[in-house]
Amino acid sequence: MERVESGSAAETEALGARVAARLAPGDVVVVSGEVGAGKTTLIRGACRALGIEEPVTSPTFTIGQRYRGGRLPVSHLDLYRLENLEGEDPALIDDYLGADGVAFVEWPAAGEGRLGRPALEIRLRHEDEQHRVIEIDW
Ligand SMILES: Nc1ncnc2c1ncn2[C@@H]1O[C@H](COP(=O)(O)OP(=O)(O)OP(=O)(O)O)[C@@H](O)[C@H]1O
Ligand SMILES: [Mg+2]
Repeated sequence: MERVESGSAAETEALGARVAARLAPGDVVVVSGEVGAGKTTLIRGACRALGIEEPVTSPTFTIGQRYRGGRLPVSHLDLYRLENLEGEDPALIDDYLGADGVAFVEWPAAGEGRLGRPALEIRLRHEDEQHRVIEIDW
């Protein structure tokens, strides 16, 4: 387990780039931590490093988003609403997982049993306004 302290969103994005360098087709990366901890920020950094240029924001009206045009196809899931039992079908998760791409999953608890064994687990937490502690199980 590696523990990193990040002092800015840019540093968290840079850590995301390090994560991206390790990824191979079929990998699932679970990213947990409270609201505003920087999960989407880290995933954005990973997507940028993979060559994805479109905006990377948390999906709002669906559980997931797909990004093409990078080194690998990427799915970005946010299961917050699933976790809080607001009407999405857990089977929808399966559509976002594939052997040819990688998937990042925010709020992964609701996907338990469907996500398979994650290639990487990342946890973020607030220290203060600008600082985050980030733990990665490589
Ligand atoms: N060191 C840091 N690392 C990451 N984000 C930071 C840091 N310092 C400040 N921030 C800010 O904190 C916010 C993190 O938001 P982000 O959307 O990444 O969080 P999240 O964990 O995905 O939240 P949610 O659970 O709502 O999806 C951003 O506004 C970002 O600019
Ligand atoms: Mg988010």
